[in-house]
Amino acid sequence: MKCAEAGNMSNGRFSHLLRGVWLLWLWQAVFVAGTGSKLWEVPTGSFTSSSNHSESLQWEQDCQYRHLQDRVRITADIPPRLDGTWVSTRCEVRPGPEFLTRSYTFHPSRHFQALQHYYTDSGCEDPTYSLIIRGKLRLRQASWITRGGTEAEHHLSKVGIVVHSLAAKQRLASRPPPTCVGLTLALGKPYELYNTRAGRGCLAALGFSMMEMGLIRVETQHHSHGGKVQELLLGDIHTDWTQRTQYRPTGYQQPLQNTMHHIHPCPVCALVYRSSEQRPPVLPRSLAAPLSLAGRWVSQRCETRPNVLFLTREFSFNPDQHTWEGVYRHYSDPACSQPTFNLRASGHYAQGNPSAKVSGATEFVFKVTQVRVTAVEEPTAKLLNGTRPGKCGRAGGWEVGVEQDLTPTDGCTLLGIKLPHKEYELFKTELDHRKHPLLFIGERPADGSSPDRPQRRPTSFQAPMVLCSGGHTQLSRHYGSGFNSKQVQLAASGTARLAQLVLLVLGSVLCSGFCVY
Ligand SMILES: *[C@@H]1O[C@H](CO)[C@@H](O)[C@H](O)[C@H]1NC(C)=O
Ligand SMILES: *[C@@H]1O[C@H](CO)[C@@H](O)[C@H](O)[C@H]1NC(C)=O
Repeated sequence: MKCAEAGNMSNGRFSHLLRGVWLLWLWQAVFVAGTGSKLWEVPTGSFTSSSNHSESLQWEQDCQYRHLQDRVRITADIPPRLDGTWVSTRCEVRPGPEFLTRSYTFHPSRHFQALQHYYTDSGCEDPTYSLIIRGKLRLRQASWITRGGTEAEHHLSKVGIVVHSLAAKQRLASRPPPTCVGLTLALGKPYELYNTRAGRGCLAALGFSMMEMGLIRVETQHHSHGGKVQELLLGDIHTDWTQRTQYRPTGYQQPLQNTMHHIHPCPVCALVYRSSEQRPPVLPRSLAAPLSLAGRWVSQRCETRPNVLFLTREFSFNPDQHTWEGVYRHYSDPACSQPTFNLRASGHYAQGNPSAKVSGATEFVFKVTQVRVTAVEEPTAKLLNGTRPGKCGRAGGWEVGVEQDLTPTDGCTLLGIKLPHKEYELFKTELDHRKHPLLFIGERPADGSSPDRPQRRPTSFQAPMVLCSGGHTQLSRHYGSGFNSKQVQLAASGTARLAQLVLLVLGSVLCSGFCVY
């Protein structure tokens, strides 16, 4: 019966890869629970004693470069210790898009003060308004849904706004109800939007929500040289604006870093830390990184997807051929130490226009033509093995560690994969504090659907991936040097332009009637 359910869900148009993967995970949970294994451990209801668990990164071996740099051990305390101030490390992009920086302070008394600064631009150079949010947080229990996370409840006591520009004031005043942030509002002067005696009408008008406080995780990276970095992961924001004030997060946003333990150097951290609602941080113009996808990119951490998926991603792009390959390694735990299955997707891509919504980002169309899956553990192999013939690779042919091509069966009903599959994407590259390129790929819709139409194109990003020098040989061979030299950047942007021209010619062939250009 469950089989039929999964089948029906995956029949809708191009159902998204990961929704199916989530189904598989659920299946697995049910399956394993049924067999009495301990894989699906439900956390205990409350914290009577402080517990912690030690975790280590497994993916480092996949990226030679990271491996050589340093070994990092990661621990996550449950319940998390929140005391201190946590700040944004870059200009953050939320679905919408919204551009902001955050500085959150938690006191031992459980009171918190959250500062959010909003901007008109994707570089956080032009502040519009700041919110100062005061309240109290109560940690409740280890999350049943997102392993490794802690559920919390918050109570707001005060929310104030300071508007920094006339344009922002006019924009706010035009949103209903205008009486909230109306003509009485003076630039640079705090205005109370909400207190415990007044209603929430004004907050709703702003789309304001602190639902992110509902899911919390603190990770500590212990570096081999003795240094330590602490990151605060708060719940994800729903990608659909109308859902965001009710959505209980199951994934995370980009982490904030502890001001006492952050990555050095972090000029943005310092600016955000020193800011106030009256003096919002104005971020320096970031180094423009020309969009060059060539090479191999990997996740920086074990990633938690909304709807309970733990995974690492690895992407390779070949701009000359317009081909790509993505490897998604799935795990059953938030440390990515217990692998379940690997999914290898490949196909073509086409680069589109610069994004009108998120400046500095570029639109893409991706086509998935082939998906190969390897079960890494017995329960997954058994599950896939039990699918009906013609529905998911070679029925009865699934074995642990043996890759199966799903192309002959046009995907896999159980995994919700239908081939060929097309997605509208948003990409951006940036340089990190060491001037190494980072690749941001569009955030998946929080409801598990697929961005299979231009209107569904993401407006925010997933966790950035780093470029591996190991997978970078092709580019180095072409240009004969590292990524930082001007020469390479110029050459790369030159080929990008050429690639776009070629695309105009080849685009229609590549998209075989699906693309809308
Ligand atoms: C984890 O807990 C053990 C025992 O309770 C303790 O010895 C250890 O220092 C803790 N580790 C961290 C990183 O807090
Ligand atoms: C898959 O099914 C085949 C045929 O029924 C069986 O021989 C094989 O052992 C199964 N493999 C697994 C991993 O269950």
